[in-house]
Amino acid sequence: MNDFEIHTTKDGSLSLYSLNYEQGFHDKDGALRESIAKYLLPAQLENFSTTKKIVVLDVCLGLGYNTGCILEKLFQSNIQTEWHGLEIDQRPLSLALNEEKFQRIWSPKVLHFFNCLKKSGKWTDGFSEGSIHWGDARQKIYEIRDSLRFDLILLDPFSPQKCPELWSEEFISLLTERLSVKGRLITYSTAASIRASFIRAGLKIYSIAPSIDDQHKWSSGTVAMKKKREQHNISGNCQLKDLSTREIEHLATRSSIPYRDPTGKGSCKEIISTREIEQSKSQLVSTSSWRKRWNTAQ
Ligand SMILES: C[S@@+](CC[C@H](N)C(=O)[O-])C[C@H]1O[C@@H](n2cnc3c(N)ncnc32)[C@H](O)[C@@H]1O
Repeated sequence: MNDFEIHTTKDGSLSLYSLNYEQGFHDKDGALRESIAKYLLPAQLENFSTTKKIVVLDVCLGLGYNTGCILEKLFQSNIQTEWHGLEIDQRPLSLALNEEKFQRIWSPKVLHFFNCLKKSGKWTDGFSEGSIHWGDARQKIYEIRDSLRFDLILLDPFSPQKCPELWSEEFISLLTERLSVKGRLITYSTAASIRASFIRAGLKIYSIAPSIDDQHKWSSGTVAMKKKREQHNISGNCQLKDLSTREIEHLATRSSIPYRDPTGKGSCKEIISTREIEQSKSQLVSTSSWRKRWNTAQ
C-alpha cells in the first residue's frame, strides 16, 4: 500500500507525508534546512575535532537527511566514523534515492553510503563503517554491541502523540545508557514529557535557540548530555541555551507526564491511554494555565 505522499518543501528539498501517521517527515519550511538547524548545528562537530573516532546513532533514518548532513562534515575530516541507524521502514530511503532532486543534494560519497544501506544494510570505506538495523528500534537497538557508546544520538521519530513508542521513559533511559560521557542526544522535540524523561534519566538539557528566520518560536529542540557542557564547548554557529523560565515551568505541568512502555512492546494506543489516565489523576498544574500565562500556542 502506498501510504506516502512525496512533496517538495520550501527550501527545494524533498520530503514525505505519511498518510498512516497523518504527519509529515519534516518541516514544510525545508527538510534539509530542518536537519541542518536541528541536528547538524546542535551537534557542534567542531567539539569533536581532536577526537579520533566518533560513533553516531540515527534513530529513525527516514529519508536520511540528519545522517546525510552529519556525514558530509565527518567525511571531510580525518575522524573515523562508526554509524548505526534504526528504522522500521525501508521505503522512505528507497523512494528518496529514486529522485534526482534528492540525489543532487549529496556528495558522491554520501550518496554511495545511502545506496549501500539500501542494497545490503552496510557500508564501509575501509576506515569508517555503517550499518542499518531495519525493524522496530525498541528491539533492534539490542543488535548493536552492548559496549558501544554513542557520541551523537539523532532522535527523530514522528511526534510523541503519533509515535509514543520511541519517546517512552524506558526507551529514553535505554538511549541514555548508550550515550558516551561527552555525547549529545539531539532531538527536534521540545515536549515537556520528553524533556522531563531526559532529566529523570540523569541528563542535563539545553534548548536549541531558534535561528534568525524562526524567531517566532520559543525553542527549536533539545540537546541532552550526561555532563553539563563546558564553557569552551559553546560555539558560535548554534546557540544552546539553559531552559528559560517559561520552559522550566512547562516541566511542572501535566504535559510533563511521561509516555510509559515497560514491556518495550506497547502499542501506540496503549501507551497513549495509560498516559491519559495518569494525567487525569495528576495533581500537577494544567498545561492550559501555563499556556495562558505565557501566551503560547504550543
Ligand atoms: C519523522 S520520520 C524521520 C525523518 C528522518 N530523520 C529524515 O531525516 O528523513 C520518522 C521515521 O520513524 C520511523 N519509525 C516509526 N516507528 C518506528 C519504530 N518503532 N522503529 C523505528 N523506526 C520507526 C518511520 O518509518 C519514519 O521513517
